[in-house]
Amino acid sequence: MRRVRFEAGKVSELKPDVGKIARLGEDGGECLLVLHQGKVHAVGSLCPHQNAPLHGAPAYNGEVTCMRHYYCFSLKSGDCLTARGYGIPVYEVTVEDDTIFVSDWEYDE
Ligand code: FES
Repeated sequence: MRRVRFEAGKVSELKPDVGKIARLGEDGGECLLVLHQGKVHAVGSLCPHQNAPLHGAPAYNGEVTCMRHYYCFSLKSGDCLTARGYGIPVYEVTVEDDTIFVSDWEYDE
């Protein structure tokens, strides 16, 4: 297992407080980028409740909300704050100039 860093997009392409799905590498992985309170967050792109894509999900008060049934997820921990037992992954983000990099673990075969 090793840590891999993906270029995920540009800060200037994000609308504040609106989630945008970004691809991570060539194998179909993706995440949700959210520019919220001046910081870029990267979390899972699918709501774990019924797998709704979180593209366009609004962010407010440190949370992102799935618009299908309004479950809220912490941008910091990924925990669902609306219903127990749900959560989304949270990825490490670094920003260099305008470029967003997201780190994730990749499993060796
Ligand atoms: S699918 Fe997201 S809250 Fe139901």
